[in-house]
Amino acid sequence: MYHIKTMSAEDLEFAVQITDTMDWGMINEDFELIMQLEPEGCFTLSSDSERIGIATTISFGKVGWFGNLIVNETHRGKGAGSLLVKHAIQYLTSKNVKTIGLYAYTEKIPFYQRLGFKYDSDFIIMKGKGFSSSIQAGLREAKEEEIKTIIKFDQSCFGASRKKILEPILSDSNNLCYVSFEEGQLAGYVAAKVYEGIADLGPLVCKPRRGRVALALLKIILNRLDGFEISLCIPKKESEILDFLSKSGFSEGFRVARMFYGPDIIKYCMYIAESLERG
Ligand SMILES: CC(C)(COP(=O)(O)OP(=O)(O)OC[C@H]1O[C@@H](n2cnc3c(N)ncnc32)[C@H](O)[C@@H]1OP(=O)(O)O)[C@@H](O)C(=O)NCCC(=O)NCCS
Repeated sequence: MYHIKTMSAEDLEFAVQITDTMDWGMINEDFELIMQLEPEGCFTLSSDSERIGIATTISFGKVGWFGNLIVNETHRGKGAGSLLVKHAIQYLTSKNVKTIGLYAYTEKIPFYQRLGFKYDSDFIIMKGKGFSSSIQAGLREAKEEEIKTIIKFDQSCFGASRKKILEPILSDSNNLCYVSFEEGQLAGYVAAKVYEGIADLGPLVCKPRRGRVALALLKIILNRLDGFEISLCIPKKESEILDFLSKSGFSEGFRVARMFYGPDIIKYCMYIAESLERG
């Protein structure tokens, strides 16, 4: 008999343990953060009294994101995973979310399609080291008082305000954020979450058809992260940026497909994702 409950502090160890079986590199703090951002939207699935799976969600107004779905290997193929997805859809719908996004391993596309998600586009997880290269003039680090402007700009692309995740990322002095302006208007920004020796690069958001601006923003932040181990999730169609990364020693980790449940509202100005579990 399956039972789904809201994830709590006592599930942290289990959540890390089960995701370690897939080498997702999640630590307690990752789950603490997502539970803090969406306290009612992170789930633990049990069969009788044994914990066998988890999934997380985040709601940003009209848009929500689904992630970290995993079921214990011995319990797969019996409907447990589907139950977690349906439960998450129900939860996000109750929060008034109209569109749910996720990043799926390509082999899981049919699984999510059966649950109502539609394929949107391919993304590639790239891994490599930060390095110095020639940088373009006119870009600079974001100022604290620009955070509101960045969040508003991001909303025009993402389709909903990501304030609840962007504010903590952009206000953390360990992290980095660079901006590019055109005639006094924000044309793009890039952020990176920086830890000891490693960094998750993203989001990178620019106005549509600003591949050059995106590349310049990427270069300037990689300069600052010289020597750091970096990972990022980028649309496969961004061939110019991918070429630059490959030539600079980055290599492909794995591929995922972005999928949506409900209307597709994200515009084509997302050059690098924030994270796999939050969009
Ligand atoms: C993805 C994952 C969570 C699915 O969990 P699961 O419990 O096996 O999911 P389900 O049992 O609901 O569905 C799996 C398959 O079994 C089938 N199935 C479900 N109930 C069934 C039943 N009673 N009898 C026979 N088959 C059944 C489903 O139709 C589904 O088939 P499909 O994959 O061809 O669509 C699991 O494979 C997993 O943890 N994988 C590793 C982590 C991972 O890849 N996560 C997804 C990241 S995108």
